[in-house]
Amino acid sequence: MELLQNQRGLKGTLHVPADKSISHRSIMFGALADGTTTIKNFLRAEDCLSTLHAFEKLGVLIEDDGETLTVHGKGKKGLTATTEAINVGNSGTTIRLMMGILAGQPFETTLYGDASLNKRPMNRVMVPLRQMGAELSGANDTEFPPITIRGTDELQPIHYEMPVASAQVKSAILFAALQTKGTSTIIEKEPSRNHTEEMIRQFGGQIDVEGKKITLTGPQTLTGQTVVVPGDISSAAFFLVAGAIVPDSEIILSNVGVNPTRTGILEVMEAMGADIETLSSDPVNQAADLKIKHSTLKATTISGAIIPRLIDELPIIALLATQAQGTTIIKDAEELKVKETNRIDATAEELRKMGAKIEATEDGLIIHGPTPLHGAEVSSRGDHRIGMMLQVAALIADGRCKLDNPEAVAISYPHFFADIENLIEGAGING
Ligand code: S3P
Repeated sequence: MELLQNQRGLKGTLHVPADKSISHRSIMFGALADGTTTIKNFLRAEDCLSTLHAFEKLGVLIEDDGETLTVHGKGKKGLTATTEAINVGNSGTTIRLMMGILAGQPFETTLYGDASLNKRPMNRVMVPLRQMGAELSGANDTEFPPITIRGTDELQPIHYEMPVASAQVKSAILFAALQTKGTSTIIEKEPSRNHTEEMIRQFGGQIDVEGKKITLTGPQTLTGQTVVVPGDISSAAFFLVAGAIVPDSEIILSNVGVNPTRTGILEVMEAMGADIETLSSDPVNQAADLKIKHSTLKATTISGAIIPRLIDELPIIALLATQAQGTTIIKDAEELKVKETNRIDATAEELRKMGAKIEATEDGLIIHGPTPLHGAEVSSRGDHRIGMMLQVAALIADGRCKLDNPEAVAISYPHFFADIENLIEGAGING
């Protein structure tokens, strides 16, 4: 498709879509809790619908009145077996967290996904879950999906030092640990998003977190709750960057989730000189209204403990860096290679087609700026975040851009192109 262009200013207010990580978990916790869970502002995007359908296949009744979802909890032992393999599409969060849940259910389940998911590493989850007593196997003795999980009633607690900083791995172990008898400890490599820990507490469970050490004693009984999902900062990120790089822009993003384990992008943008103002904040729901305006930008270095706090934002931050004065260095981000695509290569190669000065390294990217971008034929490579990043890049490109496989954005943000268009119209300019 031809991408939207607008070199003169994005204006307006945007309600960013609901948080993907919290939406997945709201179904999972709702399914495992006693009683009903009401979910308001659930993200109706492909990934979260994969989680919803997977739990329906495991016997969970989920009602949707078009606004609110009601999950009729089955309690900790109530999921029912299905002989049919469950397709979880493109969703790494669905497959990895479900592996932890199914490790404690005494039946066999097979999970698989699309061509991208079936190439993503699963040993990181299988290794600790096997230590806990579940049997897991990948396709043809590999670590790749389809993954068959033979769960057990006799799951054992674990002491586990995580070799990767990954909220998905941590969450899978926590879901399993909730179903054991005894105390499990997890040592994180670096703190990663803590939505699972927060929702264990929200659903009436107990968990202790001291720095990188997490302690949980099972078995625990969870109770259904009302979950109000805030906006996703990872979706807001595309507009934060668009507002910063398109001249004359002024965008208000309302109800953005600002859980501190997710706000690395705000710190990086501030260090680069972006003009971001917090208009109001709601500390109870960890949400804020943010205003972003165009500004001049300077390069920065992004590495170490901040990486897990902005891992999904790195492709769009790389685009931002193409417009900053100086050399931006992103390192310690080798996890980007095993996302929906190899996001180090995809970001460097696609942005280079538009004239960016960007090099891939073993664990990140080096970006020289500021560099004007030009039109090109680019591809999302089936990765939603690469597709959205390229649309934002096209806004400032001189000349037309064509995007291959734009449908990928529906994984996390079905109305993405329409929202960009509205901001262009907000400026009275139709690209
Ligand atoms: C997620 C964790 C991150 C992130 C993904 C969502 C989650 O993955 O990239 O989009 O909801 O737990 P990793 O755990 O592989 O870093």
